[in-house]
Amino acid sequence: MKITIAIDGYSSTGKSTVAKQLADWLEYIYVDTGAMYRAVTLYAMRKGLISDGFFDKESLINKLSDINISFTRDTTSGQAEVCLNGENVEQYIRTLEVSSFVSPIATVSEVRAKLVEQQQRMGEEKGIVMDGRDIGTVVFPTAELKIFMTASAEERAKRRYNELVERGDDVNYDAVLSNVVERDHIDTTREDSPLVKAADAIEIDNTETNLEDQFHTILQLAKDRIAQR
Ligand code: DC
Repeated sequence: MKITIAIDGYSSTGKSTVAKQLADWLEYIYVDTGAMYRAVTLYAMRKGLISDGFFDKESLINKLSDINISFTRDTTSGQAEVCLNGENVEQYIRTLEVSSFVSPIATVSEVRAKLVEQQQRMGEEKGIVMDGRDIGTVVFPTAELKIFMTASAEERAKRRYNELVERGDDVNYDAVLSNVVERDHIDTTREDSPLVKAADAIEIDNTETNLEDQFHTILQLAKDRIAQR
């Protein structure tokens, strides 16, 4: 019997790494919902709807029906990659620029409603691991397994900084740390679907945990829930 696994938490807590590993192991579908919000942000940037740190909310809402988000599987890595109106945009959505606009865009209820509806459709058959901020609270409130991941802001900024440097981006650690802190603030205080631990979620703080151990802990939880079905 297949279950639904919701993985929520702060940015750069390793949600997507563990979610991908779990989905591979269980042969479930993996959906990175942050990538969907990032693709909408890229659309807004490309359409000139963001300037001087502000975005044109009304125009974005009016253009929502022109935005089509989908996923494709990269033939070499086998990873799911996000497409914006048919174009694979995976390589453009992880920049610090997109990261700095995505949280304000994710506060727009109309954007959330569109993406949540699509996410719920993707999970209709269960057998899915989805990561984000509102998966256990809004998208799949009845998910059989809910994980809520945290780690210190400094540790998360260090991880994000290393990822960006590895990609060849020219970034400085303080800018990455302030982006992490700023996004935490917007994500946890927004009115619509703020980042909050679902009452029945299991909290995992991985500031000092080895990622391998963490995967085995979560896999065991998933196996237990599947056995209970
Ligand atoms: O997981 P991520 O860092 O790629 O997410 C990018 C942003 O998208 C994050 O700052 C908040 C938003 N987001 C959201 O509001 N709801 C989700 N389910 C996933 C992401």
